[in-house]
This record gives sequence, structure tokens and C-alpha cells, in this order.
Amino acid sequence: MRALVTGSASGIGLAVAHRLNADSNARTGRGAQLTLVDIAPEKLEEAAGGLRKEGAEVIAIVSDMTDPAAPAKVVARSVQEFGGLDVLISNAGAIAQATLLDLTLEQYERTFQLNTRATWLLAKAAHPHLKVSRGCIVATASVAAHHPIPTLGVYSPSKAALLMLARQMAADWGPDGIRVNTVSPGSTLTGISGADPASFDPALMEPGGAPDRNPLGFFSRPDDQAAAIVFLASPEARFITGADINVDGGVQTQLMVKSGHPRKN
Ligand SMILES: NC(=O)c1ccc[n+]([C@@H]2O[C@H](COP(=O)([O-])OP(=O)(O)OC[C@H]3O[C@@H](n4cnc5c(N)ncnc54)[C@H](O)[C@@H]3O)[C@@H](O)[C@H]2O)c1
Repeated sequence: MRALVTGSASGIGLAVAHRLNADSNARTGRGAQLTLVDIAPEKLEEAAGGLRKEGAEVIAIVSDMTDPAAPAKVVARSVQEFGGLDVLISNAGAIAQATLLDLTLEQYERTFQLNTRATWLLAKAAHPHLKVSRGCIVATASVAAHHPIPTLGVYSPSKAALLMLARQMAADWGPDGIRVNTVSPGSTLTGISGADPASFDPALMEPGGAPDRNPLGFFSRPDDQAAAIVFLASPEARFITGADINVDGGVQTQLMVKSGHPRKN
């Protein structure tokens, strides 16, 4: 199985790469052929080394997915190395810590370039290869695609656009045998907010560890998200396209609680 994963030096993308490799081993007795793409060179090399130790064939490409020329280049390099592509995981994403009033034009553009446009450009470049392999695309969206997050002015709009982009591709490319889906993570302990993941208390990721966050009462691990992403990329999901899986501990069930229900009178 030949897969390209962006944002795979850490967090959810790295967990996806490990799961894809384990899945390939279980199905075929052979590790995955992985193209890891990330903007962070040192973390990327470390990630590649770990996966090679687990039997994956890996190429690691340092690339900035906000550069409009970059997506086509990484897809071409991956196809050149492995002779085709079965799975594209467009996962690289970032937040701009600013309200709509404080946000700069540069932050707005960069957020859409990475969180939205890169998936289109990657998918466009991958389309001919995925058509041959009857492959699939999974993009990492967010709970924020469904609900505004106070203070993160442009993150939700960029992820909401990503959801519709994926559905549009699913409609357009289904006849080509290409499935396109998204996963919408809830609070997942990664370095996306600038914190060091090594500093997180593991108890936060166990039931009861964060009772106020969501009905299940804990934060997601990156691997909880990877499990859903890799399922959507697997043959078991052969009839699923244009779908979004919320992997959020049930946080989106809380609207009526916020509006005052249950009422005591
Ligand atoms: N952590 C959460 O709570 C959460 C919730 C919802 C959605 N998400 C989404 O999950 C995805 C993965 O994020 P994560 O939480 O694993 O964070 P993370 O910071 O651990 O991983 C993101 C990776 O993307 C890379 N990256 C950032 N900018 C890039 C660029 N311009 N080009 C290429 N690579 C770039 C980073 O170096 C990093 O390795 C993102 O799309 C994010 O929006 C995360």
C-alpha cells in the first residue's frame, strides 16, 4: 500500500503513518510504502527513522504545503519512488491565534492556503494516479468545521470549506473510482497549540481525566483520530464517500446543555 501523508512529522499525521504501516503488515505481510511530508525537517527525519525500524519503506520530503507549487511536486516524487499512489492523507494544518478583528491578511491567506487549498492541489495532482489504483483521499477537518471557535477567527471557516471541498471531490470523482472522506477531530493532545506534547499528563487522555471537555470526559490521543482516518482509507470503507466522521468524544451533542437544558423547572 502506497500512501502519502502530509503533516506526518508529529501528532495525528504521525499516528496515521504508524497505523497505515501496521495495517499494511497485517493485510499483506509487508510494510507500507510511505511518503511523509512536513515542514519540520528534524521531526520529520525522526518520524521516518521510527517507521523504517517498523519495516516501512519511507521517503521523507520537507515541503511547505502553503506553497502552491509544492503539492504537485510531492505527489510526483512519491509516484516516481513507488510507481503509483493508493492513499492520500491531507492532514497538515495549523491555527492562527487571532480573532477576526485582530487577524492579519497574511494569517487569513496562510490558513486557507494550508487548511483548504493544499488539499485541493494535492488531490488534483494525485487524481490520475488514484484513478489508476482506484484509491482514496482522507482529509483531516475539525469539530471547528461544524462550529465556530471563539478567538480562532479563520480556523473554522477554513475547515468548513475543506469539508465541502472533500464532498465536491467525492461527487466529481466517484465515477473515477476515487473515494474522498474527512475526519473531524475534537480536542486532541498534540503540539498544534504550541505546547510540548511530552508535557501532557497522560491521565487527561483516559476516561474521567477531563470530565468537562465532552460527554466521554477525556481528550483524544492522536491515535484515536488515526484509527478513523485509516478505517476510511481501508477496503472496509469501499462504499463510503463524501462522509465525515466526528471523532470528538461527543462534544457536538452539547448544544442544548449550553442553551440551558436540562431545565430544573
Ligand atoms: N489537535 C487537535 O485538537 C485537532 C483538532 C481538530 C483538527 N485538528 C487537525 O489535525 C491536523 C493535524 O494536527 P495535529 O493536531 O496533529 O497537530 P501537529 O502540530 O502535531 O501536526 C501538524 C503537522 O503539520 C505540519 N505542518 C504545519 N504547517 C505545515 C506546512 N505549511 N506544510 C507542511 N506541513 C506543515 C507540522 O510541522 C506538524 O508536524 C491539522 O489539520 C489540524 O487542524 C487537530
